[in-house]
Amino acid sequence: VSKASTPRAVGLVGGGVIGAGWAARLLLNGVDVRLFDPAPQTERVVAEVLENARRAYGRLTLAPLPPEGSLVLVDSPEEAAAGVELVQESAPERLELKRELLAAVERGASSETPIASSTSGLRPSELQAELAHPERLAVGHPFNPVYLLPLVEVCGGSRTAPETVTRLAGLYRSLGMHPLVVRTEIDGFVADRLLEALWREALWLVHDDVATVAEVDDAIRYGAGLRWAFMGTFLTYRIAGGEAGMRHFLSQFGPALAWPWTKLTDVPELTDELVERIAAQSDEQAEGVPVRDLERRRDDVLVALLQALRAEDAGAGATLAAWERGLMGGAAGLDGDDGGPLRLHGTRIPADWIDYNGHVHESRYLQLCSDATDALLGALGVDAAYLTDGGSYFTVETHLSHLRQLEAGDRVQVATQVLDADEKRLHVFHAVLRDGEEEPVATAEQMLLHVDARSGRVAPARDGVLDRVSRLRDAHAALPRPERAGRAITIP
Ligand SMILES: NC(=O)c1ccc[n+]([C@@H]2O[C@H](COP(=O)([O-])OP(=O)(O)OC[C@H]3O[C@@H](n4cnc5c(N)ncnc54)[C@H](O)[C@@H]3O)[C@@H](O)[C@H]2O)c1
Repeated sequence: VSKASTPRAVGLVGGGVIGAGWAARLLLNGVDVRLFDPAPQTERVVAEVLENARRAYGRLTLAPLPPEGSLVLVDSPEEAAAGVELVQESAPERLELKRELLAAVERGASSETPIASSTSGLRPSELQAELAHPERLAVGHPFNPVYLLPLVEVCGGSRTAPETVTRLAGLYRSLGMHPLVVRTEIDGFVADRLLEALWREALWLVHDDVATVAEVDDAIRYGAGLRWAFMGTFLTYRIAGGEAGMRHFLSQFGPALAWPWTKLTDVPELTDELVERIAAQSDEQAEGVPVRDLERRRDDVLVALLQALRAEDAGAGATLAAWERGLMGGAAGLDGDDGGPLRLHGTRIPADWIDYNGHVHESRYLQLCSDATDALLGALGVDAAYLTDGGSYFTVETHLSHLRQLEAGDRVQVATQVLDADEKRLHVFHAVLRDGEEEPVATAEQMLLHVDARSGRVAPARDGVLDRVSRLRDAHAALPRPERAGRAITIP
């Protein structure tokens, strides 16, 4: 994943469940968003979803997130499409409405801009039929919550240019997603075909009074659902075939497919009585918990699962790791440096950094400075390739000074100065600065050692990195030494 392919600005049309989820993923990846949605509650809904997403990302990763993008609400689809690198439409699932909106988007966008629709079921060929430039339209079908689930199905229509599909896949990948290119245009794409099959069967089970809504859900979440987080149906059944694998599984269970178990070819009629029964059971299952709370519970569990999967380098966890490596390598370079301390890391203090005293918890000051160190290392060329090759810096000592308090919502930047360096050591000083202020809120002095991860020993930095370290040390030698550098903790 290279930071270079992250779009600068994206236009969104529709800011409901899915549109707000896109807005959150984009903003937290540092992308500016122009959003059109005529509903009066749009600003509130997007703000609430964004707050949940910030909370989730705060738990999901320690990688330094870029400064949040800015959100602008606009008054038309044309304005949403102006000057952006991608337009993502997430309006209600009605063909005529989507066609009108896409035509308006096309009027506002440059003819190069790819346009994607979040539709779960409409075919791209139908969506693009009336466009002047149908070649740049494809479906980019995400999954709720868009800011946490990596899957996005990319499907072109009969007139979509192959480059559009490739470009969209690259854009989505830069946002930490896993694009699955659906090669054949079919109703429901791949994922919804599967989900729909399960949904039909679930509806029949409730319709026939075999199981309640909650019992159907239990049948998933205590069993197959756990496997589905990292193995699809095919790999699961291969293992279920034992040592003889898939061939054995198919010959043992294949004949059962002909038994009249399922009613998949049929759907129960959604009579008032059935709708009422499902809704009532669903209310009981939710125990009156409001939807934003349910979303936070869902997010916490998804975050925990994604982290477990990352540790195993499995499924969506591997996508998370790739996104994080991109964030680590994505810090601003040293070019354009004016010779002063570097400002490579900035962020907005999230609400969940506040402790029971109403202050930012002391560990977060270390996090801010560690993130700045990571950004410095990225700028020095310690990128994904360097790490894979076994080279890395480890922090061996930190001295933090807590000088003033930060509050939720404060914007901060970390100014970083190299005090000294040689081929194995890097001595840095960070000052955490609230936007618009000169006096630091906190400072941190750190010593880092270069190691060869393969031998586990301290070893000289490699050529390119060492050159950059030396140049930065020489440039920063001219700076005044920070007042707190070299302090020890004593009672004088
Ligand atoms: N909900 C899901 O799980 C899910 C998953 C994947 C894809 N999708 C697809 O995403 C799209 C949006 O679904 P949703 O669940 O977010 O629906 P939603 O009802 O939550 O949101 C739709 C939004 O579109 C807005 N809207 C209405 N008219 C508009 C117009 N003329 N211009 C711009 N915006 C307009 C509405 O105000 C609303 O905020 C649909 O195509 C759906 O198939 C939904």
